[in-house]
Amino acid sequence: MKILGSYPSVRLRRNRKYNWSRRLVSENNLSVSDLILPIFVTEGKKKIEAIKTMPGVFRYSIDRLSGILNQASKLKIPLVAIFPHTPNSKKDSSGNEALNENNLVCKAIKKIKNNFKDIGVMADVALDPYTDHGHDGILKNKEILNDETIEILTKQALLQARMGCDVIAPSDMMDGRVGVIRKSLDKNNFKNVQILSYAAKYSSNFYGPFRDAIGSKKKLRGNKKSYQMDYKNSNEALREIGLDIKEGADFVMVKPGLPYLDIIKSVKENFKIPVFAYQVSGEYSMIINSIKKGIIHQDSVFESLMCLKRAGASAIVTYFALSIAQKLKN
Ligand code: PBG
Repeated sequence: MKILGSYPSVRLRRNRKYNWSRRLVSENNLSVSDLILPIFVTEGKKKIEAIKTMPGVFRYSIDRLSGILNQASKLKIPLVAIFPHTPNSKKDSSGNEALNENNLVCKAIKKIKNNFKDIGVMADVALDPYTDHGHDGILKNKEILNDETIEILTKQALLQARMGCDVIAPSDMMDGRVGVIRKSLDKNNFKNVQILSYAAKYSSNFYGPFRDAIGSKKKLRGNKKSYQMDYKNSNEALREIGLDIKEGADFVMVKPGLPYLDIIKSVKENFKIPVFAYQVSGEYSMIINSIKKGIIHQDSVFESLMCLKRAGASAIVTYFALSIAQKLKN
């Protein structure tokens, strides 16, 4: 960039002097329309369970979902993402509970679609909430099988679509799953069901609290490096994204968020498609715990989300969605 002019005739601080002036020149903004609220669901009745590693985040039994959804609806949050805490007794090696039309996610989707017409519902397509080994796919002889996993994922996606799910979000990182899922949605008359691909999903150490929340942490055998991306890489993220767009993704996600701003930016620059960021559980916990201890100011939440927007995110999945939406309203 060519710099025009110089000090003392140019003083950049002039525009920063007043609040009104800073507002006039602000380049980015955060609004409630940018927020996606993750919701954890659990079995049983009248349950609102705290999650130890995620202060302020809870698991809801289906009959207690209305409270949080009413809040989301009042605040005009556009989309919620449902994640199930499946009891161990329902987990097996190939995640069959994913295909049970009475599983937690199916119940939640139906409940939301019947009662909250103005909120979109998104559900993950992956097996990790349902497998006894905690992996996103079928584990055989220490290998996560790609094509066999896609077969189940496709059935899972169709089931969720049948329940009324608006946005199908494959988070499994199997090769080729977006294309297969798109084809089968189309064949089954779900042409308008959107696909949000977790396209550049890294094998990250920041997912710990989430795995607590869905009860897969103690279960996880080994790690997910054979399918989730290596955090040393960025070109590879562009290949992942490009392929998923070709296969029919409506939007693509980069995950985690804050440590991956460079990826968000380069996806945004290379592909003209909505890019979503996932501010993951570990990021949430670090920020909320530091605020609670008085180490950082509470506005760091707003800053973290604004930085994701500045990098190019169109929307952000964040456990701060409700509190920030409330703040934006005031
Ligand atoms: C599961 C899934 C994960 C997250 C979203 N979907 C965890 C994982 O891949 O192990 C992480 C979300 C978070 O940490 O907030 N496929």
